[in-house]
Parts: sequence; structure tokens; C-alpha cells
Amino acid sequence: MTSCTRDVLQTTVREVAAIGRDAWRLTVALPAPLATPLAGGHFFMLRTAGADFPFLNRPFSAHAAGPDGRGPELVFLFKTVGRGTGCLARLRVGEAVTAIGPLGQPFPDPRPGETTVLVAGGVGLPPLHLWLERRRQRRLGGAALLLYGARSHDQLLELASAQALGVEVRTSTDDGSHGLHGRVDRLLEGTLAGIAGPVRILTCGPDPMMAAVTRVAATRGVPCLVSLETVMACGFGVCNACAVPIADGDGRLARYVRACIEGPVMDGKPVLWQHATH
Ligand SMILES: Cc1cc2nc3c(=O)[nH]c(=O)nc-3n(C[C@H](O)[C@H](O)[C@H](O)COP(=O)(O)OP(=O)(O)OC[C@H]3O[C@@H](n4cnc5c(N)ncnc54)[C@H](O)[C@@H]3O)c2cc1C
Ligand code: FES
Repeated sequence: MTSCTRDVLQTTVREVAAIGRDAWRLTVALPAPLATPLAGGHFFMLRTAGADFPFLNRPFSAHAAGPDGRGPELVFLFKTVGRGTGCLARLRVGEAVTAIGPLGQPFPDPRPGETTVLVAGGVGLPPLHLWLERRRQRRLGGAALLLYGARSHDQLLELASAQALGVEVRTSTDDGSHGLHGRVDRLLEGTLAGIAGPVRILTCGPDPMMAAVTRVAATRGVPCLVSLETVMACGFGVCNACAVPIADGDGRLARYVRACIEGPVMDGKPVLWQHATH
């Protein structure tokens, strides 16, 4: 796993663009290049300078990170769900955003001879997009395929940008307005049936989606790494707000891990999704 030096970065807004229903792309300029290149799954705790921003910073995965993963710009995609994301959506060009990071354990790079199947749900695209961006920039080996699911076509965010990353993109929507009519775990089942040789699944999206993807993977004996979006308070291991229940081999609660430092990327198989606290 890649580890990064964590910093408190004073960034400046370059763009806030509406990209779908309640969905936004935020581009910020870094004060200096990052010491270590980012990998998909690295996240930042963001806050705006405004007094209306909630007390706690909010976590967001990096979506794109410049030509070598170190800036000079960082891109985030987010959905407005409450006060913090509302403040981000109201940002204007030139305003300040504090970003603590990079944080967390990212997805590993592709392995030669293995097919990586990336499974994104809605606004869960960013860590997988950055993984693909890094794969292309570094000319890393191994075949890859992106499966992207959402409720409706207008929630398939930045589809063109994902399609430009040099892999086949297959889509599904719950209402049938784009790609397969149905859930992305069904798209995954069909896709896995057509792949020969070793496969690894990387996924990010809502918990029920990641739980379903993990079940499909387990049924087929395919390893599956998830990027958790657990509610967080500090983002770097001091508050325990992000505890994730982990099962033993018999499916019973064995221990908790902190999603911010042991994750957000971790093996999906032992996660007790039904007991998760968020
Ligand atoms: C590592 C990590 C990466 C993330 N990356 C992204 C990203 O790239 N794009 C993005 O849009 N979001 C991402 N999130 C989720 C994002 O952090 C939350 O949506 C955000 O904190 C909500 O803040 P708020 O103040 O707007 O809403 P709040 O007022 O805090 O919450 C509004 C509602 O959303 C619920 N909620 C808040 N946080 C979460 C959560 N994590 N999971 C489920 N429900 C939640 C609350 O229970 C409440 O009902 C990520 C989370 C983590 C932990
Ligand atoms: S968010 Fe504080 S320990 Fe993980």
C-alpha cells in the first residue's frame, strides 16, 4: 500500500461546476505539488472558510490529481446531502478551501496478468477514476474494465471523462435510461462470467451496493477490495468515529477497524455491512 505525508493544505477554488442532479465537480489549486503522488482511494478532509461550514471537516476522495498525481490541481466530485456539501457547492472561484491530506490506504496498483474489474456506484466514481488515471499515466500493466451503475442516466457522473481513460466502460441504471436495466451487481455477474483468468474487483459506492458486489465476488471466489465512505470526524485515527465491524471466519463480530487509517480501502469480505454504524 502507498503511504503519504499528511498536510494541512490551503487551496484555492479554480472551478465549481454542476455535473448532474445535485452533483458537483470541485477543482482546487494546490499551494505546491504534493510530496507523494496520489493513488485511487486517497482522500482529503475538506472545509470552506465560511462560518456556516459545520464544526467537523468532511471527507472526499480525490477524483483527479494532475499529470503525475501530485497536482497542481485536485478534482473532487460530490453530491449535496447536507450543510457541508451545501457550502462546497456555493464556493466561488478564488475562495479558500482547507484540505487535510492525503489520507488513508488507497487501492493497490494493477497486477500484470490479472484483470481488474472496477465497480462504481453513483458518486463512488472518484477513487476508481483516479486509479484509472494513475494506471494510464504510469502505463501500468493488466487489463481493466469499468462497470458504472446509478439510479438514472443523470447520476452517471463524468462518464465521458471515465471513457477517456482507455478502458471499456459498461453502465447500468435502475430505471433503464442508460446501459443495462438493473443494478450494477447484475452487470458484474454477467461480466465475470465472460472473463477467463485471474480477476480482482475494486469497488466504491453506497454501502448496500458494495455489500452486493462483495457477495457476488465471494460467490465466485474473486478477491474484492472496497473503498468505504463511513462517516468520519477526524480522518486520521484519533476519534474512533469511523469504526467498521469486521467478522471472524464464522461471520461473527470479531473486532472493529478505523476506516480512516486501516481503510478506506480494505477487503470487503469480512465487513459486517448489516452492523455498520452509518
Ligand atoms: C473516505 C471518504 C470519501 C468520500 N468521498 C466522497 C466523494 O468523493 N464524493 C461524495 O459526494 N461523498 C464522499 N464521501 C461522503 C461525504 O463525506 C459525505 O457525503 C459528507 O461528509 C456529507 O456532509 P454534509 O455536511 O453535506 O452532510 P451531513 O449533514 O453530514 O449529512 C447529511 C445526511 O447524509 C448522511 N451522511 C453523511 N455522511 C455520510 C456517509 N459518509 N455515508 C452515508 N451517509 C452519510 C447523514 O447521516 C445525513 O443523513 C466520502 C466519505 C468518506 C469517508
Ligand atoms: S475518523 Fe477519527 S478515527 Fe477515523
